[in-house]
Amino acid sequence: MDQVSQVREKIDIVGLISSYIPLKKSGRNFTTNCPFHNEKTPSFVVSPERQIWHCFGCGRGGDAYSFLMEYENIEFIEALRTLAKKAGVNLKFTSDAFSSSKKEKIFEVNKIASLFYNFILLKHQSGKQALEYLIKKRGLTSRLINTFGIGFSPTGRRDLSNYLINKKNFSKKDLVDAGLSYEKDGEIFDFFKRRIMFPLIDHRGNIIGFSGRKITDDSFGPKYINTKETEAYHKGSTFFGLNIAKDEIKKQGATLVVEGEFDVISAFSQGIKNTVALKGTAFTEAQALLLSRFSPKILLCFDQDEAGFTALKKSIPIIEKRGLSISVVILDGKDPDEVIKKDPVVFKKAIKNDIEVYDFLLDKLIKENDTQEASGKRKITDDILPLISGIQNEIVKEHYLKKLSKSIDTSYESLLRQLNKKEDEKKEKVFKKIQVRDRREILEEYLLALILQSENPRDSFTKSKDILSSYEFRILSVGKIFAEISNFSKEGNRFNLKSMSAILLKELLPSFDKCFLVPLPKFENYTKYEEEIIRVSKELRIFLLKEKVKKISTELKGKNTDILEIEKIREEITNITMQLSSQ
Ligand code: CTP
Ligand code: MN
Repeated sequence: MDQVSQVREKIDIVGLISSYIPLKKSGRNFTTNCPFHNEKTPSFVVSPERQIWHCFGCGRGGDAYSFLMEYENIEFIEALRTLAKKAGVNLKFTSDAFSSSKKEKIFEVNKIASLFYNFILLKHQSGKQALEYLIKKRGLTSRLINTFGIGFSPTGRRDLSNYLINKKNFSKKDLVDAGLSYEKDGEIFDFFKRRIMFPLIDHRGNIIGFSGRKITDDSFGPKYINTKETEAYHKGSTFFGLNIAKDEIKKQGATLVVEGEFDVISAFSQGIKNTVALKGTAFTEAQALLLSRFSPKILLCFDQDEAGFTALKKSIPIIEKRGLSISVVILDGKDPDEVIKKDPVVFKKAIKNDIEVYDFLLDKLIKENDTQEASGKRKITDDILPLISGIQNEIVKEHYLKKLSKSIDTSYESLLRQLNKKEDEKKEKVFKKIQVRDRREILEEYLLALILQSENPRDSFTKSKDILSSYEFRILSVGKIFAEISNFSKEGNRFNLKSMSAILLKELLPSFDKCFLVPLPKFENYTKYEEEIIRVSKELRIFLLKEKVKKISTELKGKNTDILEIEKIREEITNITMQLSSQ
């Protein structure tokens, strides 16, 4: 057995998944709310028998490896290492046999680059001005500099590139892949020049990219530039500081989210260590998902300007969808860094006095609009009703609707009607999407599910196949699985779903797993179960017959000379029609 399978055999998927999310026993399987998409009723199923998982909501599924890869956003090789460690298996492959993935290569070169930048800042003449700026102007210490791995990119056009290529044996391609260098007319250049360098580190400790700030405000270019999209760095996928803050976040049950790097560092220096930076954008779904794994509460402390307020409003529904509680920290000053520098105690008090986000918004809107005028009422409700409608907890939702009703002197019923209008519009859109799947496709999958979950799959399959001979499946994957089962049993193999799934083409597995796990209606006994298989097969056969009728009818139209042929086809039509009506 190869090591990948050996590790898989030793890992219990139920134990693995339940170490990340709580699972509930449900019949033969376990279920929970899917961690990969938003939902209120669980459609994520784990099968201890087959050691697989599948979500009926978003369609994702697989084994222990794919769960870990998806959940931790890591590559196969990293998942293998993690699971091997858990299973106590010593991986024997040499490094080139399992050559490290592109992403891992990026982490590796980024790590060396960050050490280089850090050395330049702290030890090298060319970092002197930057170091002075950080210490004198921004109040950093060398300890803080090292905690956050801060560095400086020198002024030369390829200082870093030369170092990495000549001294550390990286290729040009490695540097370009990592976004550290770019190529122009066959020459290589450093991407970051003369900037204070902040490594952007994911929660697992990998350096995925960098953010570089210029050291003089008058010099050319934007204040901050960030690594361009690479295989490892995607804008809006992580937070600055999460690797350092995550334990404290778990301990406190709350995350303080600020805008910038210096906000995080200042807060940290005052002992507020559950702080991460969004880096000047609104929350993405990926970021909300990520934080939901560490704490149930989020305190938002954005800059006290228009941009900060816009980011706040955009972030709320995205965080709310994850069911996290959200509050706002109100500052008297530009941003956390400035306020902390002025007086850390004031900042700590502001955090203690955080306000529930909906109270904050309502108060703000009421202050800014005339609550006695229709136009004011409209503006307030247009702004806040969509946000209230997104509140996951019904009691909290009602609380704010009532508060709004009082504040703008409008009946609760009117607000509810207005709210439902908006929700109905949304639902219609969703409903239309669902309707696209027609009955035939549903039946095909249902039939495969009935066969795979049958007490006697071989027998069920044979019964169905007899009825469905020459039927063409609308869902290609289901059709292919049928064909594979057919071949498999022809070759005289013992009918065993486990070995069956082992030889199945990779792209067919999700479909196979889904049908293996989908909850089926309860049947009184096996006879009733068999009857259902026959009924569904026959219903599908009708589709086949109807298609035949259609085909023959068109053939008839084109051939009015050959009497014999027409007679033959007519006969077949009568035949098929009779078959149809007898069912
Ligand atoms: N930012 C960015 N790219 C930009 C501007 C800003 O990534 N071109 C991010 C940075 O992380 C920055 C944050 O957005 O820290 C907030 O921007 P801003 O308020 O303009 O900067 P400050 O945090 O005030 O920057 P500093 O404290 O360094 O002066
Ligand atoms: Mn700022």
